[in-house]
Amino acid sequence: MMTRISRSLIRQASKYSLYLPPLLRAAGSLEHAKQELRWIQNELPKHKWIDAITRRSNFEPLQYILGTQPFGSLDIICKPGVLIPRWETEEWCIKLTEILSKNYKQSQPLKILDACTGSGCIPLLLHSELNNRKRTAKVIGFDFSKRSIEIARENLLEYLKNHDANGITFDVADVFDPEVLQKLNIINIDIITSNPPYIPFADYKAPTKLNGVEKSVRLYEPRTALIGDLEFYQALIKNLVIPSQCKAFVFEVGYAEQVEFTSSILKKLDSNVNWRTGSFHDSAGNIRAVVGWKANTESEFLEEFCDKDSYSMKEMNY
Ligand SMILES: C[S@@+](CC[C@H](N)C(=O)[O-])C[C@H]1O[C@@H](n2cnc3c(N)ncnc32)[C@H](O)[C@@H]1O
Repeated sequence: MMTRISRSLIRQASKYSLYLPPLLRAAGSLEHAKQELRWIQNELPKHKWIDAITRRSNFEPLQYILGTQPFGSLDIICKPGVLIPRWETEEWCIKLTEILSKNYKQSQPLKILDACTGSGCIPLLLHSELNNRKRTAKVIGFDFSKRSIEIARENLLEYLKNHDANGITFDVADVFDPEVLQKLNIINIDIITSNPPYIPFADYKAPTKLNGVEKSVRLYEPRTALIGDLEFYQALIKNLVIPSQCKAFVFEVGYAEQVEFTSSILKKLDSNVNWRTGSFHDSAGNIRAVVGWKANTESEFLEEFCDKDSYSMKEMNY
């Protein structure tokens, strides 16, 4: 249903600027519309303002219109066909690098594999933050979408303009392919990260007021980046975590069931290994990631990453 905008709000907006009224509906409030107008005027040349405002009035996300989204210290290129990086992901990436750089003792570069990499935002931010803390990393990102990998490689080229990095690669591969590791030619990995599609179809379709996704997301961001559930966590464990013999993983989640499922599938499929798992909430108070590490290995410090009372921090002697 189209939200109606009151005449008085339109009048108020017009007094501020004639460019403002068309932005009201997509921005959701006068304050947000003013902020969006400031970004459009600051970041685009004047001859592009009308086109940008028209696109935004049709609910296109501002990040596709402006072309980038800040992600930590980076500006990630965003174009239709790739998911726009979210603050929730940025938050855990930064927290992860803080913990890794403080605790990871080995002098060799950390080897990180990022599944479902999209724009490449996770590998690039992890690399950059570790680099800032004088730690080196080799990072491989993969995605089944060729468009995403094209954009991830564009982001890598941008990144290389300001960073000295020879250990980042992006490839096309499918997390459901049991031979994904061989296809990527991966032998040794320390940590696997992923922000897989995790919105169940029913929630994706639900009205925004009932916790469904926002209209601009539904209209413009790729469904294949958003819709998914337990099958992704199963594939991550089965095709990546177990065969790579990695020491740890961090997977973004949207629901507590996804944390519980990931812990139990590990228990079922990798019963010879003493895995520990935990989870943590983001700063908005929502469950945001499931974390796993092998007990009695140097990755135990990842416990620090989890909420103290996260349900599966209890002893798990399989
Ligand atoms: C939630 S988005 C995350 C993108 C990026 N990592 C981020 O945090 O912004 C999920 C990504 O998974 C990718 N994807 C979906 N199905 C996949 C599959 N079977 N194998 C690999 N990647 C897949 C989508 O193309 C999308 O880029």
